[in-house]
Amino acid sequence: MSDIRNIVVLTGAGISAESGVPTFRGPDGLWEGQRVEDVATPEAYARNPDLVLDFYDQRRAKLGTVEPNPAHEALGRLDREWSGELLIVTQNVDDLHERGGARRLLHMHGELKSGWCMACGDRFPFSGKMANRPACLSCGEQGKVRPDIVWFGEMPYKMDRIDAALATCDLFVSIGTSGAVYPAAGFVQTARYSGAHTLEMNLDPSEGSIFFHESRMGKAGELVPLWVEGLLG
Ligand code: OAD
Repeated sequence: MSDIRNIVVLTGAGISAESGVPTFRGPDGLWEGQRVEDVATPEAYARNPDLVLDFYDQRRAKLGTVEPNPAHEALGRLDREWSGELLIVTQNVDDLHERGGARRLLHMHGELKSGWCMACGDRFPFSGKMANRPACLSCGEQGKVRPDIVWFGEMPYKMDRIDAALATCDLFVSIGTSGAVYPAAGFVQTARYSGAHTLEMNLDPSEGSIFFHESRMGKAGELVPLWVEGLLG
């Protein structure tokens, strides 16, 4: 491990599960009682904005009731103490990584606590209810603010920066993601192609499990602190 300098960590819903945030692909195939195509696509928003805005309002409000768990905190420690390059890429839209101390962090699927104005294009911190059709904090236009979330069919954020980090990383670590959604599911192959060692930590083998050099199965809240401790010594 002594030759590792550049690390990319990818996280998914599994890292927040022990904090009480439900994962996406439950056994019933529903995401908190809804079909993904009814709440997480631009078409769903066009068809039934009230349903979609209310769904994300509820998820946003729930953030006030959950706390970072030992896995988020371990990544916060890694961020503080790792002197090499580090990029934590999360698919999660919650704010638990920030609250766990992560700073070198990027939300590739957007953030619940951000609003995006369809009138002026600005994005801004948002903590209220979008179903109330608030005015844009930048241009003042009423009723044009949507969740700053990447829906199916939309382009994930900051892909240039992520690709650059993957191209130069020595270690790629995937935590709590099913490997079902691209482009994130393909990061392991990009990192391997760049010569990185690849490690997966998940409750059960992800769809791309065979692409990893090493797989550790179990709860993120137990595995991630052990891994960080081993790395920082
Ligand atoms: P998923 O719900 O697809 O997968 C979560 C993974 O975490 C599963 O493989 C679980 O086995 C695992 N898991 C559950 N509890 C865990 C624990 N305590 N410790 C470790 N692993 C655990 O969530 P994602 O892979 O994040 O996209 O989903 C990817 C994307 O699909 C999401 O960002 C979202 C969704 O549709 C958008 O909204 C664009």
